[in-house]
Formats: sequence, C-alpha cells, structure tokens
Amino acid sequence: MTFKGMDVVSVRDLSREQIEQVLDLAQKMVPYAKGEKTTKILDGKILANLFFEPSTRTRLSFESAMTRAGGRCIEIAQPLTSSTVKGETLADTIRMVDGYSDAIVLRHPHEGAARLAAHFSSKPVINAGDGAGQHPTQTLLDLFTIRQQSGGIAGKKVVMVGDLKYGRTVHSLAEALAMFGADLTFVAPSLLQMPRETVKQVEKYGVSARLCTSLEKVIADADVLYVTRIQRERFPDPSEYLKVAGCYRVDNVLLREAKKNLVIMHPLPRVDEIAPEVDETENAKYFVQAFNGVPVRMALLSLVMGGEL
Ligand code: CP
Repeated sequence: MTFKGMDVVSVRDLSREQIEQVLDLAQKMVPYAKGEKTTKILDGKILANLFFEPSTRTRLSFESAMTRAGGRCIEIAQPLTSSTVKGETLADTIRMVDGYSDAIVLRHPHEGAARLAAHFSSKPVINAGDGAGQHPTQTLLDLFTIRQQSGGIAGKKVVMVGDLKYGRTVHSLAEALAMFGADLTFVAPSLLQMPRETVKQVEKYGVSARLCTSLEKVIADADVLYVTRIQRERFPDPSEYLKVAGCYRVDNVLLREAKKNLVIMHPLPRVDEIAPEVDETENAKYFVQAFNGVPVRMALLSLVMGGEL
C-alpha cells in the first residue's frame, strides 16, 4: 500500500487499511514527537504550510511534526502579507509553491479549495480544513486518541455534540468512525444537526446514527463524548447564532451521570462548551488529543513524502 505522492483531501481518500497504517506508524512516532528520540526521516524535505484561515493547533503541530522529522517548513500564516491581496488566484499560488516544496498543507475558508489545490500541484496536498468541508488529519488524530484512550474503536458509543452542521471535524470523523464500526449519536439543535449527506455516508457502513437534541438523555451510555464549538464565523445570519449560542455546556454536574471512564474530546479551540473545572478530571483528554496531532502528522508526512523510520 503506497502513500508516496498521495493527496489527502478527504477521509474518503483513505481506505480503512491506510488509516490503520497511519495510526500504527503514529504510535511508533510518539517518542520522536515528544523529543525523547531523534530522527532525520524527512531530512532535506520542505513542507509548505499555507494557512488562509486562523489556526493554532493544526499549523503548529504540522510545523512541529516536520521539524521533529528532520525537515523544514515554509509558510503563509498571514494571508494579508501574501500576494493573494494583489489578486493572485489560489491556482497560481499553488503552481508557485509546488516548485518550492515537497508537500503542501492547505487551510482555506472555501469548501473544495484543497481539491482544487491538488489539481494544480504535482506534490502531495494535505487538507488542513476547507470551509465547513473536511479536516482529515484532525480525523486521524481523533481516531488515534479514541483508540489510545478507549482501547479500540469498534462498538464504542460515541456521542458528538454541538455544531454538527458547520463543524467540519465532525463530518470527517463521523464517516471514519462508521467505517470502524463505532456506535454514533449526534446531539445538536435542529438548526445545527449533522448534514444529511454525512448521515447517508454513515449509513453506507451499516451504522444508523441516532439524532437528538438532549445531551442529558444520552450521556449515561457514552464511552466517548466529542464536544464541538458553535462556529460563529460560519453563520450567514448573526441572529441565528444568538438562538443557539451556549446551548450545551459540559460541567461536573453533567459528568455525575456519565460513565467513570468517559473520554471527553474536543478539537479545540473551545469557548464555553466545556467548563474549566472539567479540565481537572480524568475524563478530559482534549489536551492529549491536541498533542497527538504531532505523532499522527509525523506519520502522515513521512508516508506521503516517502520517509522511512
Ligand atoms: N483543531 C483545530 O483545527 O484547531 P486549529 O483551528 O487551532 O488549527
């Protein structure tokens, strides 16, 4: 199964075997990601990090992963300082960066931007989030975290709560979890429920997800609670945002109803959907999850650029 030169635009680009290959390699990368061991598997390689939307975790963990693997990064982190402001198209930007790097990571506000970039690049393109579309490397690190913290994925009861309409991480993750045989419940106000297209994709794997509005009604059964932020910036009408802002909050009172070993995850950033008191519980795994971005991205970068551990 060769990854070399492959684009990763959607989780649908990866088979179950390929996902398992990334997760297994990521496990081996953990001591390198922590700086306990060193490696030069991507020595001489250059990664272009093109971020046309804000990011903390994805951009920095890709940079950390590339550096820990012995490679280097070039970047657009502030689009206002790039020639995009002079009217340069994404296609032309990609054609240039193709000549400056060995792989391209792209975050862009428009759904479909990463697919377009892959068309114009001869180098692997990795989607780091395209509008409300997909965020496949977040999915890989989420799967890695569930496997690590819950001891597996198949049969686990995963409850996703919050903004399931605009929150792109849940679209990729729901499909991948269905592929691995997890049991899914989607909790959201009707305005922000999981898109029909994602529900249909999940059903193709023989999983029929439950859709509901009450977190209190489903928390007791959950093995994993995946919390998401209401994506204020993606609402076309601010008054619609005000109708749903603050609609779910995970706190220690809610956790009294949960399993003792519930794994709480969040792609971050959070606003007010998880109370700070939850950070002190054994259930809070969202900072471990954020760290896991480094070994998982080391694994993916080495696979698409042909570096061997
Ligand atoms: N999880 C995630 O994508 O975070 P950033 O927006 O900070 O990259």
